[in-house]
Amino acid sequence: APVVVAIDGPSGSGKSTVSRAVAARLGLSFLDTGAMYRAMTWWMLANEVDVNDPEAVAVACGKPVIVSGTDADGPTITVDGRDVSGPIRGPEVTAHVSAVAAVPAVRARLVELQRGCAGVAERGIVAEGRDMGSVVFPDATVKVFLTASETARAERRAAELRAKGVDEATITAMAADLARRDAADSSRATAPLTQAADAVLVDTSALTLEQVIDRITALVAE
Ligand code: ADP
Ligand code: CDP
Repeated sequence: APVVVAIDGPSGSGKSTVSRAVAARLGLSFLDTGAMYRAMTWWMLANEVDVNDPEAVAVACGKPVIVSGTDADGPTITVDGRDVSGPIRGPEVTAHVSAVAAVPAVRARLVELQRGCAGVAERGIVAEGRDMGSVVFPDATVKVFLTASETARAERRAAELRAKGVDEATITAMAADLARRDAADSSRATAPLTQAADAVLVDTSALTLEQVIDRITALVAE
């Protein structure tokens, strides 16, 4: 059976960077499921759906056509044919994505798309998010729960934003938002962020990216 590597963890733990590198190294597909929740949120905001009204979000969430390109060398995400890879990283989407992701109908729809991506991945897939090991791929070949101290995660995000030329006030605001989002993602009723019983815990606080990538590649090769 094709390999499924499920990687979960809080924001800034290194999921996207590490998953993509592991997929590229092993010749597997790569799926950033957070990008799908972000794309859904972007569409809700663009179409003036009240993202704080779970009923309205549930009614609307069947409409957008969300397509994920799973090539680890150049992942893509489109909504109704439009490339949204830039706008989904903006502060507006980031502020509202947890509310949209808490709506069960949204999750049901995106989980189905995620399983579809895995089903057509030729050699297998590395999928990263919050519920890959717990809900979407309970029989994954390898499950990893990536963590890092809150300080390390906030510092990594800040470094990224600083490199992009974002001002310090925005960086401070985004750090507070990160903590709020982690709390929301961990406490929601449907598919809260939790370490699956059979997931390997990897704390990346004191590791280099290379060390984390090596560790996870080794787990898959076992
Ligand atoms: P996530 O997908 O979990 O939110 P990212 O993959 O976006 O996390 O990583 C956030 C940032 O932290 C990236 O800029 C990445 O290069 C950096 N990073 C990730 N892991 C490490 C690590 N072990 N050591 C140092 N920096 C890391
Ligand atoms: O990049 P970052 O870690 O900040 O977030 P992301 O992976 O892009 O995910 C954005 C948001 O989508 C999260 O804060 C969750 O609310 C939601 N999400 C989810 O609920 N389930 C997933 N499998 C992936 C993301």
